Amino acid sequence: MCGIVAYLGHREAYPILINGLRRLEYRGYDSAGVALINGHDLRIFKCKGKVSDLEAHVQDGNVKGTVGIGHTRWATHGPPNDVNAHPHQGNSGDLALIHNGIIENYAPLKEELIHRGHSFKSDTDTEVLVHLIEDIQFTEKVDLAEAVRLALDSVVGAYAIVVIDRKEPDVMVAARKSSPLVIGIGEQGEHFLASDATPIVEHTKNVVYLEDGEIAVIDRQKGLKIRNIKNQDKTPFIQELEMHLEALEKGGYEHFMLKEIHEQPRSIRDSLRGRMDLINSEVVLGGIRDHEQKFQNAKRILILGCGTSWHAGLVGEYLFEDLARIPVEVEYASEFRYRNPIVGEEDIVIAISQSGETADTLAAIELAKSRGATIIGICNVVGSSIARVTHAGSYTHAGPEIGVASTKAFTAQVTVLTLMALMIGRRKGTISASNFHRLINELDAIPDKVQKVLQSEAQIKYIADIYKDAPNALYLGRGYSFPVALEGALKLKEISYIHAEGYPAAEMKHGPIALIDEAMPVFVVATKGASYEKVVSNIQEVKARKGKIIAIVTEGDTVVKELADHVIEIPETPDQLVPLLSVIPFQLISYHIAVMLGRNVDQPRNLAKSVTVE
Ligand code: M6R
Repeated sequence: MCGIVAYLGHREAYPILINGLRRLEYRGYDSAGVALINGHDLRIFKCKGKVSDLEAHVQDGNVKGTVGIGHTRWATHGPPNDVNAHPHQGNSGDLALIHNGIIENYAPLKEELIHRGHSFKSDTDTEVLVHLIEDIQFTEKVDLAEAVRLALDSVVGAYAIVVIDRKEPDVMVAARKSSPLVIGIGEQGEHFLASDATPIVEHTKNVVYLEDGEIAVIDRQKGLKIRNIKNQDKTPFIQELEMHLEALEKGGYEHFMLKEIHEQPRSIRDSLRGRMDLINSEVVLGGIRDHEQKFQNAKRILILGCGTSWHAGLVGEYLFEDLARIPVEVEYASEFRYRNPIVGEEDIVIAISQSGETADTLAAIELAKSRGATIIGICNVVGSSIARVTHAGSYTHAGPEIGVASTKAFTAQVTVLTLMALMIGRRKGTISASNFHRLINELDAIPDKVQKVLQSEAQIKYIADIYKDAPNALYLGRGYSFPVALEGALKLKEISYIHAEGYPAAEMKHGPIALIDEAMPVFVVATKGASYEKVVSNIQEVKARKGKIIAIVTEGDTVVKELADHVIEIPETPDQLVPLLSVIPFQLISYHIAVMLGRNVDQPRNLAKSVTVE
């Protein structure tokens, strides 16, 4: 949600900022802007639209300078337009500031600043912050860094900010609270700042993740200094990035989403790697080993997440109840945080997040933590906020996911949840040795089976063409396939803008069946397994009302083939592992429909990849 990037060094800043903004564009793409200092001259270029619009706007502009900041926006306060685009300035025009987050008490601050003679141009909360810093500089006669510290002391909300001042052209000040900020330390005194490491990795692998409440001052002569809001010095902890540049490119695919769908055999294999021992029939997740006992004794597990991560959590519920016999509740983090939930020391909370930055999930974790629960994270982004606030956890090794629609992150999350449930179930003795052995061997075979499902892409594209103009769609599944139905519907909605609903197949007769007519495509997971016969009956109910059935079936199925309008075959696998295969055709259907409708697949309207506001 908003991407920020900044540079101070010996090179021209503009190309570095623009490249960085392109990498961060998945975080928001309503408007974009840069500010550069050349000598004592501060220039700002900003406009509504994407980074490419900014480049066109800047064309021939004087974008010289070796210090600069850049921003790509996902609008919170005020519509996307040129004026609301970042960077923002105060009265004097000396300062330029970029911000990711929300200043909650901006209204009273703004009112006070207006009384003090400040005038505002935009509708944003951010502009208030830059005026406040400027006001403090003037009244307290302090330098930029101290003014930022004092200003942030009176701010309520979430922020990652970078500020520059043409009066101090060799200094850049950054701070964070609840919104991520990474500092890259390059050679010859170069420093990079960004919302995540993707714009930094091509310049340096040495990074510092700024902690909540910390302020970084980057000075051309003195280098990097970190202090906290109470003005205490902090020693920067430099880490090495494990990210590779190729992972951030499209690699010959038309869209990141398609590349990420096709990466799933690899990303699932990477999420399994080193965690299963097929010879000794063992699963070991090193990250949670210290909490194994607690898991085994848990009376209940709570799973928290949003969107696709919440859907993975629902699969986790079935897995833990089935394999480890532990009751599970899956909660939307956004609901959990605003109830007065019953949670305490006895509870294990599993928080799932691809980005590791989702504001609602972070807040829900803090709440559960404050009540004594043990928090286990399942995150994809290494070093992310959620990964750092949890007590323990297991990373998914999906690699960077750039497409806004989550695909490989979902299957990696389900893979890790499967490993967790198997590990705990085996330790508790709720799975027999033979069943455990069978399941880990089946899990090991999943990447190859995913590869096989991907080979159906041409057929899936053909089906997509038939249903691309449908205004509505229904997705049905039972048991382990119910969360897949929800996920299929979400994928279609978010990238094609077609209205879609996911339902437990048997619930259809309690209402949604009224929607079915010859124009309604109904996507059903009807694989061989516990609820196969029941789902076949549900398919018959749809056909009796002339609905169109597109069924995901087990290879060789003949019964559903007779009933359905189209079948997409997936290899046979135990019920517990079906979501890892059955979700793939749904991802591909949504992708191809969205492409055929001319949608912006990787950056669908109104969305952002990492939702750092509530
Ligand atoms: O980064 P997270 O996993 O915490 O993100 C949660 C949701 O915002 C995310 O899954 C969202 O629903 C995706 N766009 C779905 O494709």
